[in-house]
Amino acid sequence: MDKFVLAQFSDTHVCRSGELLNNGINSNRRLEKAIEYLLNHSIRPDALIVTGDLVQEGFDEEYAQLKTFLDPVIKRFPVYLCLGNHDSHASFYRHFSEYPGIAGSQGLENWKKGRMTDLAVSYSVELFNSKLVVLDSLQNGSARGLLVGSQLKNISNLSKDIENQNNILAIHHPPISSGNATMDTICLENPETLEKLLNLFPTFSLILSGHIHRTIISRFAGCTVCICPSTAHLYPIDLTPTNTLPTREQPGYFLHRYLENKGWISQLISLEL
Ligand SMILES: [Fe+2]
Repeated sequence: MDKFVLAQFSDTHVCRSGELLNNGINSNRRLEKAIEYLLNHSIRPDALIVTGDLVQEGFDEEYAQLKTFLDPVIKRFPVYLCLGNHDSHASFYRHFSEYPGIAGSQGLENWKKGRMTDLAVSYSVELFNSKLVVLDSLQNGSARGLLVGSQLKNISNLSKDIENQNNILAIHHPPISSGNATMDTICLENPETLEKLLNLFPTFSLILSGHIHRTIISRFAGCTVCICPSTAHLYPIDLTPTNTLPTREQPGYFLHRYLENKGWISQLISLEL
């Protein structure tokens, strides 16, 4: 029997109303479709996490559009948000300061004080008997990810108080190689730092990421890594700088179910287009 169901969307790449992505894909329509699936699926989620690249360019109007999509969802269950390399701290805080985990976070407080640094969207929340820790790997002006010291310190501080090992870490840039040379040039720059920390505090069992726009499952520092496909479009496994057209594969999302005595079980839900 499900003890908890955490849905994961990623790389929603929401555009301004009426706009399409450069490749002609209507990411807004596809997110609406994913939400329709989520809310009508026989397995009812207890919460949703979106693992970054929430919007396409970081514009205020895009976050306003995203909010119109997510506000009906948050009336049903909590929605947790994580930033990716397409996001913008300031625009995000202007629209989502009241969302769970964001309110009261250090990054939000720094933004309210007008600071231009230490704006990371990083927080932790309780999920039944587990913790969800959201990290921010966004580096302004770069598609590559980086975990800075303050966030790594958060993990070690939190981990000291965590007793069980079913906790979840969410980070847009996966800490593993995707196996694709093009994507791996815009990877997380310092996975070894995270690895050392997770080996020191083995309290996490699942790492949820996005960024690659494909489904990839692997292991890292004793955790299962689930790279969630985009709700907008998938990139080919042999993506190259000259072959960046999305595939015709169906986009989708994950349902992570926590089952008594079994731990987390993740399954992919594909969207029919
Ligand atoms: Fe993306």
